[in-house]
Amino acid sequence: MGSKLEQADQFVDVAAAAEVEEGEGTIVFVGTKRLALFRVEEEIFCISNRCPHAGGFLGMGWQKGCRVRCPRHGWAFDLRTGECMSDPRYDVRRYAVRLEEGRVLVGVPEDLGR
Ligand code: FES
Repeated sequence: MGSKLEQADQFVDVAAAAEVEEGEGTIVFVGTKRLALFRVEEEIFCISNRCPHAGGFLGMGWQKGCRVRCPRHGWAFDLRTGECMSDPRYDVRRYAVRLEEGRVLVGVPEDLGR
């Protein structure tokens, strides 16, 4: 089923779109919080960098198309929906993305990373 987008109180500029390459994650910070960006063709998706299973860094996982596998135990997540394909109880947090003038803006709650 997947996860809802996190509340977007503000959109934060986190990276140049050109830096986000398909096939590998790009880890960015919002305050102290790490998020992971992934490119799928012309679209960029943002999920929590923290795997909901045991904290693996999803931004260092293996991406193939819309799927990323956690580098710790290999669980798979759908970048479009946040769904954990390995155990549906562990969907990952995901964030809205806007592309503006070559920049990636991520929609986050006001208190994220404080
Ligand atoms: S920490 Fe990600 S699959 Fe276990």
